[in-house]
Amino acid sequence: MRITVLTLFPEMFPGVLESSIVAQARKKGAVEFALVNIRDFALDKHQVADDAPYGGGPGMIMKPEPIFRAVRSLAEGGSRPKVVLLSPRGRRYDQRAARQLAREAHIALLCGHYKDIDERVRTIVDDDISVGDYILSGGEVAAMAVIDSVVRLLPGAISDPESADRDSFENGLLDHPHYTRPETFEGMTVPEVLRSGNHAQIARWRRRQALRITRQQRPDLLQTAELSGQDLELLDEE
Ligand SMILES: C[S@@+](CC[C@H](N)C(=O)[O-])C[C@H]1O[C@@H](n2cnc3c(N)ncnc32)[C@H](O)[C@@H]1O
Repeated sequence: MRITVLTLFPEMFPGVLESSIVAQARKKGAVEFALVNIRDFALDKHQVADDAPYGGGPGMIMKPEPIFRAVRSLAEGGSRPKVVLLSPRGRRYDQRAARQLAREAHIALLCGHYKDIDERVRTIVDDDISVGDYILSGGEVAAMAVIDSVVRLLPGAISDPESADRDSFENGLLDHPHYTRPETFEGMTVPEVLRSGNHAQIARWRRRQALRITRQQRPDLLQTAELSGQDLELLDEE
């Protein structure tokens, strides 16, 4: 997969791209990145990429010409990527959207900044994504969340792909609790079943915990999760 980031602040990205699973995936060849500075596509010698809003008001608006030119440059000599705008107006990002993006060969993440982008930019955008109902200073941090969540799903990105398949939201539920050594820490002991070696009992306990945590923390997820008869019994158990 190829991920291109279109931004006025490319210097924000190396920490994320050069650490942890994203860096590993890159080394293994599962993903390659390109950071494109929108300012490089500005038309004037001062490389101005923003201007005051028509109609007045506070804040600066990212100009359309540099963004159009930057996006068009991506299609030169090859196929055009799917252009994804990070925007509070976009569809709410979730694990399903991450899975969809992970199937693309090339995505370009377009980061707005300042007061916003010029509205006409939306005519060259294929998809818009919001990471939640709050306002970030720019699309860069949102793009990092998209990058991390997509890359960990790519074949070969993490050593045990089953681990990602079992995370929260993958099966419509939140994840069950996890423990590691020591067995007892500050008077808190790891549940006995996890130390029993009985894999059937462990699986049953984990499923029950996932169901209960989801019911407690995110009852909305239970409305759409595919629950078996046994799941309903586990939820009813005292
Ligand atoms: C300060 S925000 C602009 C907010 C805009 N004036 C509004 O009220 O909808 C600047 C940029 O940050 C990005 N951004 C802010 N919040 C976001 C969110 N929740 N999800 C995705 N991108 C976001 C967008 O790219 C946006 O163009």
